[in-house]
Amino acid sequence: MSRIRIKALLSGQKKDGESIRVCGWLRSKRVNKNLAFLVLNDGSSQNDIQCIVDAGTRAYESLGECTIGAALTIDGVLKASPGKGQSWEVHCDKVEISAGSAEDYPLQKKGHTMEFLREIAHLRGRSNTFGAVFRVRNELSYLIHQFFQSRGFMWVHTPILTASDAEGAGEAFQVTNFDMENPPLTEKNKVDWSKDFFGKQANLTVSGQLNAEAMALAFGDVYTFGPTFRAENSNTTRHLAEFWMVEPEIAFADLHDNSVLAEEFIGFLFREIVAKCPDELAFLSKHFKGLTPKEIDDLGRHPFGRISYTEAVAELEKAGKDFEFPVKWGIDLATEHERFLSEEVFKKPVIVTDYPKDIKAFYMRLNSDNRTVAAMDILVPRIGEMVGGAQREERYDVLEQRMKDMNIPAAELPWYLDLRKYGGCQHAGFGLGFGRLVQYVTGMTNIRDVYPFPRSANSISF
Ligand code: 4AD
Ligand code: MG
Repeated sequence: MSRIRIKALLSGQKKDGESIRVCGWLRSKRVNKNLAFLVLNDGSSQNDIQCIVDAGTRAYESLGECTIGAALTIDGVLKASPGKGQSWEVHCDKVEISAGSAEDYPLQKKGHTMEFLREIAHLRGRSNTFGAVFRVRNELSYLIHQFFQSRGFMWVHTPILTASDAEGAGEAFQVTNFDMENPPLTEKNKVDWSKDFFGKQANLTVSGQLNAEAMALAFGDVYTFGPTFRAENSNTTRHLAEFWMVEPEIAFADLHDNSVLAEEFIGFLFREIVAKCPDELAFLSKHFKGLTPKEIDDLGRHPFGRISYTEAVAELEKAGKDFEFPVKWGIDLATEHERFLSEEVFKKPVIVTDYPKDIKAFYMRLNSDNRTVAAMDILVPRIGEMVGGAQREERYDVLEQRMKDMNIPAAELPWYLDLRKYGGCQHAGFGLGFGRLVQYVTGMTNIRDVYPFPRSANSISF
């Protein structure tokens, strides 16, 4: 008999009285004189299935070996359940221990701290909380593809190995094939990178954007969705060294088109995830401080706030709050400012546009005021920045000058400048930090709890 997933079973795919096989991990067991109850979960659903074993059967005799955490294969008959809180139960004919579990299985008790669960990242997926988080994460990934594919966007696979630091923030991890104890040297006793694998220094990419731009200027509407890497040493609840980013890039489009796309995209994700994961989101909002499913759905049905950077700074100054980082025009907004704007001023996600050019990347289009660029960030309550994007500088001369001003040698990105020479029309795009989206939707306060195996400074176990 082939196994049926608990999710399928609970959704009514099998009828009362049908013989079935379920396979999963034992969450708890209760043994009485006449009956035993085994609570099984197979990862497909927020809900467990209760399996009932009659006394006097072979299965009942072997219950001693059914330890919590063991992998079980259960054959039995599906019955509508008279019990509260569950619609179906399985009356066991046979309970086979596919793999036992040692007595010191760490997930026996409820109420472990998130910090402890991080130390058992290899097992935490079997807890209710992480079961919910990772199922939501999976559905959001799928919805991202659904949204863009249904609109005719092409998914482009941008490289992970690159020679450029797209954001120019100097946070790229270097990749080398040298024996670092003994690298080849130049005549001047410097490391001779020309002898390294790629004939020059190479990095892990910080963003797929620059390559996505080239593809957008051939295919119109594209997106990348993959891992990016940043060696930022900031030990915060919203930064990782390895994180996934979704980066759409659209041709014949300006900043406004870009912001509308982002709003529609995120609105779609909010509405659809509530429909896809109602049990997970209900569980999470009950146990964590995040949004309720209804609140998430509502957010997806209303326009986001909109404000320019200059107006936002005025709002922050007007607030008269004692911020840790003082506010004045020209500063990069800190998390506390971003949170204040979204939590207190707008009470919802807000799109902030037109930041000072000096705090933004070289590729953003210079506005006619010569002091701001056509940038946009989307800030959300509790997290702050979730999206960063911009209309790109399509004018060859202006881009060349910006690169000079920011000490980015043209020789490093000749192809990127080339794109401006050959049909380089108006175009725009943004990057959405996937982990921050999952944080926002699940209510997890730490980004380490939305990646199965997070990587951050001094942490690369598992
Ligand atoms: O604002 P960022 O740096 O923008 C870019 O990388 C652009 N190239 C995107 C584009 O226009 N195609 O990063 C985009 C988003 C941020 O808003 C944030 O949500 C997330 O990526 N992010 C991180 N998430 C987790 N850990 C980190 N270290 C992150 N750095 C950025
Ligand atoms: Mg940013």
